[in-house]
Amino acid sequence: ASTLAAAAQQSGRYFGTAIAAGKLGDQTYTTIANREFDMITAENEMKIDATEPNRGQFNFSAGDRVYNWAVQNGKRVRGHTLAWHSQQPGWMQALSGSSLRQAMINHINGVMGHYRGKIYAWDVVNEAYADGNSGGRRDSNLQRTGNDWIEVAFRTARAADPSAKLCYNDYNIDNWNWAKTQGVYNMVRDFKQRGVPIDCVGLQSHFNSNSPYNSNYRTTIQSFAALGVDVQITELDIQGGSATTYANVVNDCLAVPRCTGITVWGVRDSDSWLGANTSPLLFDGNGNKKAAYNSVLNALNNA
Ligand code: G3I
Repeated sequence: ASTLAAAAQQSGRYFGTAIAAGKLGDQTYTTIANREFDMITAENEMKIDATEPNRGQFNFSAGDRVYNWAVQNGKRVRGHTLAWHSQQPGWMQALSGSSLRQAMINHINGVMGHYRGKIYAWDVVNEAYADGNSGGRRDSNLQRTGNDWIEVAFRTARAADPSAKLCYNDYNIDNWNWAKTQGVYNMVRDFKQRGVPIDCVGLQSHFNSNSPYNSNYRTTIQSFAALGVDVQITELDIQGGSATTYANVVNDCLAVPRCTGITVWGVRDSDSWLGANTSPLLFDGNGNKKAAYNSVLNALNNA
């Protein structure tokens, strides 16, 4: 196959990217995105601050622009993200306790209700675990509403849209040896044991010199999958853009049947949140395929 999406489809997987609504008028951008990818994540447009700028007043204009572009071009959509400590609108940052808990529930119902039946998978909860060696939860206003906030979010989400896969999504949970990975693993195991609805784990996979790709990545993917959840690589970028590392990531996903797809976090280097100078993506600033692109395509075709 000659595109990332078609190559991934050969093994029943998808290959996605993050799309920014503000770039949909850029023809180089949309041409590449339309040709190469079959799963779309809104980079910012479905987040809490974008979708509920005022309490109880939902705004789906930017989210719908990304959603409609995707669907009109035959692509599926991952929803990102419903409950997160970051990119909260000011009104939510000011809440605590039971009113914040209720606002979280209302937000999940409002956004998932709008997109009901239309989303492949939602990142229901994003980045709830602490960095470092504790293996515990991140301190946040949501965490301070009570340790059960994550399972409440997932139970709410299941009822709001039973057709969407429900994911827990985080960064630095790709290295199997890290306490953060083990913390999330233990939560997912507990949820599966107690029947809390969860269908997938999103490994963001932002690789850099502080959190490099490690060859135990495949063990991480296999271990989560063995709990009975899908694994998705949800925000892949690699600072420096190593073609070898990109191939390793793809091969590790392909080795695990329940690793169902890969999303890179942007189209061209110049579209990356990291800045083009770190060369993290598969296309250069002019839209040319990089060595990393060929490496990913070959890996997908050799599956
Ligand atoms: O839209 C405003 C614009 O109006 C304003 O002039 C400009 C000035 O700073 O800011 C623009 O908003 C920025 C937005 O990106 C759109 O470009 C925000 O400041 C900026 O904070 C925001 O950054 C996003 C970041 O999440 C925020 O947390 C990145 O685009 C986005 O790639 C990044 O994505 C996250 C995932 O959601 C979760 N995992 C980590 C990942 C990378 O940080």
